[in-house]
Amino acid sequence: MRKTIPDFEKMKEIGEKISMLTAYDYPSAQLVEEAAVDIILVGDSLGMVVLGYDSTVPVTMEEMLHHTKAVRRGAPQTFVVADMPFMSYATVDLAILNAGRLIKEGGADAVKLEGGVDIEPIVETLTRAGIPVVGHIGLTPQTATQLGGFKVQGRDLESATRLLEDGSAIERAGAFMIVLEAIPRQVAAQISQELKIPTIGIGAGAECDGQVLVFHDILGLFKRFTPKFVKQYAELRAASVLAIKQYGEEVKSNLFPSDEHTFGLSDEVIQKLYG
Ligand code: KIV
Ligand code: NA
Repeated sequence: MRKTIPDFEKMKEIGEKISMLTAYDYPSAQLVEEAAVDIILVGDSLGMVVLGYDSTVPVTMEEMLHHTKAVRRGAPQTFVVADMPFMSYATVDLAILNAGRLIKEGGADAVKLEGGVDIEPIVETLTRAGIPVVGHIGLTPQTATQLGGFKVQGRDLESATRLLEDGSAIERAGAFMIVLEAIPRQVAAQISQELKIPTIGIGAGAECDGQVLVFHDILGLFKRFTPKFVKQYAELRAASVLAIKQYGEEVKSNLFPSDEHTFGLSDEVIQKLYG
């Protein structure tokens, strides 16, 4: 059964952790649904792990829609959150238009936007229009340049205080959930305690109300770089290369296809056709 926003509120209330994992296409969504993870995030991390860009910045609305639709087809029973790509919520009008598309055309249950106090009016407009919103504060990859790179946020008093203000602003604006990325656990714990909405951590410690990681990272499918917060649960890249290599070699050596994978004719038809 597809979980609902009240289910996530309840989970925070009773202390049941919320699991979230990214997925980007039909087969990955099927795997995540079969594994019974609570929420699928169609992250704009797809720019890096699926499309091979250097960052999430180039990801377009059309790309997000294309992948969100595939995920929805693969996981009809799972709550799906779709990332709004960089610049797709630069104004209130753009935000309404693009968030509406991810819900109506993409089939997402909710959208996720990066930012705190600065995007409070946008989150407020979206939620008033009936679009469920997930916030995302701390290390926000779309604006990493302004943060001075991919660095842990909230390490000093001033920065930690700003994160608390950002979290409150997002909650006040009507978001029903918030992602905390690359934040010291103590700060994430305080935000999780002060906010009523569930916090989903990535590199934010065990005190968050849930956790999120990237599909390709936990399965060992993306090796360009691995942040400290990633835990790899399988080594599918090596296993895949091995299998593909074996296939290629069997083609060369005539081991594939064998009779088992080959169609033939009955003796009777062979007799008629070829005498
Ligand atoms: O794009 C993404 O995958 C994300 C998560 C890492 C939170 O935003
Ligand atoms: Na993202």
